[in-house]
Amino acid sequence: MEVSGDSTCAVVASATAARTRVVIVRTTRGTIANYNYVVVDIATRSALLVDPSWEPHVVLRAVADVGAHVKGILLTHSHPDHVDLAATLGEHFGCPLWMSRQEIAWSGFHAPRLVPIDETPFVIGGMTIRPMLTPGHTPGCMCYRIGDDLFTGDVLFAEGCGICPDLDGAHRMFESLARIRREIHDTTRIYPGHSFGLPPGQSFATVQRENIYLQFGNRDDFAAFRLRKGQSRAKLFTFQ
Ligand SMILES: [Fe+2]
Repeated sequence: MEVSGDSTCAVVASATAARTRVVIVRTTRGTIANYNYVVVDIATRSALLVDPSWEPHVVLRAVADVGAHVKGILLTHSHPDHVDLAATLGEHFGCPLWMSRQEIAWSGFHAPRLVPIDETPFVIGGMTIRPMLTPGHTPGCMCYRIGDDLFTGDVLFAEGCGICPDLDGAHRMFESLARIRREIHDTTRIYPGHSFGLPPGQSFATVQRENIYLQFGNRDDFAAFRLRKGQSRAKLFTFQ
């Protein structure tokens, strides 16, 4: 996980796809850095937030800088570093928050504008959102595909994957990553919740090459590696 020595943060980059612009927003709390995203439909300026957390002035500045009109908030899962600003910004923008039905049932997360969803695609402001249920890190983790961009939360990082709580979680994670490998194109850009070195927006081809967790051929070998003892960053991962 990327570690910051101060509490400042900034919009660090943007990337363009055919019809959308992804604004990468880096926020920090203590020594931990998070990535939030503003996804903007270029034609309408409608926007979606992904996992807005920490330092609201930074998220709001990113929205204002691109002149976006926020229409909704996509939540990959219920861990505090991914939902910290969800309710507050849902009220601020008067927009819905979306989270998987399974995650809501498991976590008990609630907020005034929370809408449970399944994998049915939906359209907001010219953008088609395609949710993918990808359990393992938590039972209801969602990835969201919008055009040729995939927002992966703590399921898939450029350099690894999210911590799994037990053997069943690790087996589910293996199946989720296998599904991503089957369904996601090499050219798709991957936008995770954290970085361990590579900046967000790597192509899936690069992630497949760099990420050891995508190299396993069966779930038991994967689980043994994912749950191995003595991981030096285990303490940091518990923050996710
Ligand atoms: Fe997490």
